[in-house]
Amino acid sequence: MLSPGLEKVLAQDHPTPFLALDPEVVRERHRELGAAFGDARILYAVKACPEPAVLRALVECGAGFDVASQQEIALCLAAGADPASLQHGNPVRGPGAAARAAADGVRRFVTDSAEDVDALAAEAPGARVQVRLSVDDTGSATPFHGKFGALPAHAGALLRRARARGLQPAGVTFHAGSQQTRPETYAAAVAVALEVAGGAGLARPELDLGGGWPVAYRSAVAGPEVFAAAVRGAVAAAVRAGHVDGAELLLEPGRALAGPAGVLRATVLRVSRRPGIDHRRWVYLDVGRYQGLAETEGEAIGYPVRAPGRTGPPAPVVLAGPTCDGDDVLYRRTPVALPSDLAAGDAVDLLHTGAYTSSYASVGFNGFGPLQVIIAE
Ligand SMILES: Cc1ncc(COP(=O)(O)O)c(C=O)c1O
Repeated sequence: MLSPGLEKVLAQDHPTPFLALDPEVVRERHRELGAAFGDARILYAVKACPEPAVLRALVECGAGFDVASQQEIALCLAAGADPASLQHGNPVRGPGAAARAAADGVRRFVTDSAEDVDALAAEAPGARVQVRLSVDDTGSATPFHGKFGALPAHAGALLRRARARGLQPAGVTFHAGSQQTRPETYAAAVAVALEVAGGAGLARPELDLGGGWPVAYRSAVAGPEVFAAAVRGAVAAAVRAGHVDGAELLLEPGRALAGPAGVLRATVLRVSRRPGIDHRRWVYLDVGRYQGLAETEGEAIGYPVRAPGRTGPPAPVVLAGPTCDGDDVLYRRTPVALPSDLAAGDAVDLLHTGAYTSSYASVGFNGFGPLQVIIAE
């Protein structure tokens, strides 16, 4: 069921494609995650949906922010965030970036290499740092493929190096991959992280669980309380094992807060029969991979799709975008069924599209885009 705010926007007559976005849903998801994890601090991952209305809603909820660039810092500050609530989570900042962030009042950074620790010590002296671990990400629909994080054997050395360079080693973090559906994967990562932190002399470290909490796109997923129980169990085990005395939890959700807050309304450009090529109808929309649906690459994320104005019996389709690019096909393997009477000019909705859509849209590939966002009042 959609929120009243989303229903209201979808009932209005806006040119398509557009993303209807309801900050009230973001607030609800924030409340739910916060309730499940008790006194954990929530840092919203701005990249998921940097819309000012979403950031303002989260400032009002008391959230902090995970930022990756100077532009994201500026957006958070413009939304009224306290710079002390920002964490710079991108360990590939580049020369001068940490100094600029520090000049804006950011005091918390994530690192994962000796080179970056040294740069932080020079540019943001005395800053608090978490070391990011590379962890097993089994169960993630969009994993990081080892792009970030140090192996446990090296992470302890980075915490010690940070201390030796005058930084404050605050704890450890990881990201178990986005749309992570396995609570056990978090539990395993927590066990590794707390052993590393304890080994580096942190008795009660910050334990930043990163993001990854899943959205129920086409199938049910475990609720936040199931993930929280798995994490609490792993922390308790690390305490019993004598690795640490406890841990201060932080969460960096992006998808779980913003995903359910959006619906992307598109229009059908053409429904084609393709004799000899495919037995299914091909449905071409006015939105595709390059207008915000980047996460359909490899069909990693399968958004629920509906055609609100038609009642014909559902029949299978291939769903494609509007551009002349061969990769601009959303779903070939993922089963999508749309009404048999669907025709050019009809509306099609892609649900749970609040995260990783509007910010991914190109400025105008092939003359299409960027994606218009309409905020529910
Ligand atoms: C450092 C960091 N934290 C948090 C997130 C948010 O992840 P998710 O949207 O899966 O919750 C990301 C996403 O890429 C990230 O890179």
